[in-house]
Amino acid sequence: MRLFFALWPDEEVTRQLARVASQLNIESRCRWVDPKNYHVTLAFVGEVPAAKIAMLQHIARALHVPGFTFRCDSIEFWRESQVVVAAAQAAPPALLDLWSKLNDAIGLSRKHLRTHVTLARKVAQAPVPQAMSPIAWRATNFSLIRSDTGGAESAYTVLDTWPLLDETENH
Ligand code: 2AM
Repeated sequence: MRLFFALWPDEEVTRQLARVASQLNIESRCRWVDPKNYHVTLAFVGEVPAAKIAMLQHIARALHVPGFTFRCDSIEFWRESQVVVAAAQAAPPALLDLWSKLNDAIGLSRKHLRTHVTLARKVAQAPVPQAMSPIAWRATNFSLIRSDTGGAESAYTVLDTWPLLDETENH
């Protein structure tokens, strides 16, 4: 099965991202991501046997990282993957910490974090550049997700979720 770790937005952030998507000037044909599927990938595990889930749960449970807030603040067109994303220009230290610890523990190579939510796929032509009002996303947990890629759009199932530490616990 195909697995990945991700941050899932709450309803308010989902609504704000959907509004940004609805205002995009994409002139070519594309495939819009269903807002219920919006997420930020933290670690892409890829195709693994179901027996690996327990090991991944063990890794996630052992992480002790504080919650954090980041801002999705730019619309980007990534030509090589033909996607339009809402990206965060800056990542708070706790997000970098979560990303690096998770990928290292799984044994995945990592270069640099490109925090993003894919809004549209199969975008053939660069959209008209546009600004977006920053969306503040407060991350209080992260999840292990199964992706089923059979249909027109991937179907995602949350297999497990772990809380991030309450920031007040750090004082
Ligand atoms: P994307 O949104 O940038 O396409 C489930 O497929 C999630 O894992 C998607 O969010 C996707 O990112 C990401 N993903 C898919 N293949 C990947 C890969 N080879 N490396 C890193 N992330 C990947």
